[in-house]
Amino acid sequence: MKVLITGGAGYIGATLTPFLLAAGHQVRVLDHLAHGGQSLLGVWAHPGFEFIGGDIRDREVVRAAVAGRDAVVHLAAIVGDPACARQPDLARVINLDAPLALIAESQSAGVERFIFASTCSNYGKMKGTDQYVDEESELSPVSLYAETKVAVERALLGSGSSRNWCPTPLRFATIYGVSPRMRFDLTVNEFTMEMMTNKQLKVYGEQFWRPYVHVRDAAGAIDLVLNASPAIVGAQVFNIGATDQNFQKKQLVEMIRPYAPDAVVEFVHKAEDPRDYRVSFAKITNQLGFKTTRTVAQGIAEVVQLVRENIIDNFAHQKYRN
Ligand SMILES: NC(=O)c1ccc[n+]([C@@H]2O[C@H](COP(=O)([O-])OP(=O)(O)OC[C@H]3O[C@@H](n4cnc5c(N)ncnc54)[C@H](O)[C@@H]3O)[C@@H](O)[C@H]2O)c1
Repeated sequence: MKVLITGGAGYIGATLTPFLLAAGHQVRVLDHLAHGGQSLLGVWAHPGFEFIGGDIRDREVVRAAVAGRDAVVHLAAIVGDPACARQPDLARVINLDAPLALIAESQSAGVERFIFASTCSNYGKMKGTDQYVDEESELSPVSLYAETKVAVERALLGSGSSRNWCPTPLRFATIYGVSPRMRFDLTVNEFTMEMMTNKQLKVYGEQFWRPYVHVRDAAGAIDLVLNASPAIVGAQVFNIGATDQNFQKKQLVEMIRPYAPDAVVEFVHKAEDPRDYRVSFAKITNQLGFKTTRTVAQGIAEVVQLVRENIIDNFAHQKYRN
């Protein structure tokens, strides 16, 4: 397929781009390089790779980017609750208005498949502590970030599914693992890096649950959905992760502890967290046979080795945080 990835230089995009090239797709990336473009060095000379430097808010750029594409994977966004809260007006434009325009341009250009990177944050707080939320559960976004994700999902699902148009929002678990664009503001990566390097970590609300998925498995899920029958994935939402990879923050600390026995971890009690959810990933497993290939324990070991081998020279640099 000829695929456009928006945000292809980002954390997920920089793993997804070589993944799709290796799977035989042609990949065009549209990105304005908010965190730099070094992450694309490994694919730059690949004959199937193309880059457009530009902003998804620019309609002309978007029109050129979707031209001749079979599929669009839309990753570009202001990512995370804090980043959106800091720039709410910009977040509404980039995370809501721009995707709606991208969807319209994709449809007019004859793009047949549209995958949207949504998030399990859309579930907000689950009702009981021993239950799992799934794709049928009520959404209760508790941040502007999640509100914009829910709104784009609704627009996509409302656009229907036909022989020529197959839209699929994917609700990713929180991602971990090593990618050519590293993020150390995501829980597993952050906890591991802080406990290894600073030997200190503050954990807010250690009892709250979240699901986690490796960045390479996120890429694998996107490739699987791109190749799936439109009868199964058209106008359908899928959670992306594994049901046995839901963890409380304190469990993550316990898993990292053997690598950093001397790290001082301070648990800051929080009675309430509006985001506390355990998620079921049965739908993608049952309908598409999706299986993750990595566990959180393996992801921790991966980050530990990255730190021990000094692969990154300045872990504290702001460019590793959104
Ligand atoms: N990382 C996670 O844990 C996670 C979980 C669920 C969903 N998601 C979603 O996946 C997507 C990718 O996340 P990520 O972790 O790779 O984030 P990231 O910040 O590393 O990557 C985002 C990329 O989009 C680009 N971008 C942002 N605004 C742009 C604009 N206006 N025009 C062009 N390019 C622009 C940035 O330059 C960056 O390269 C996001 O939509 C995010 O909401 C991520």
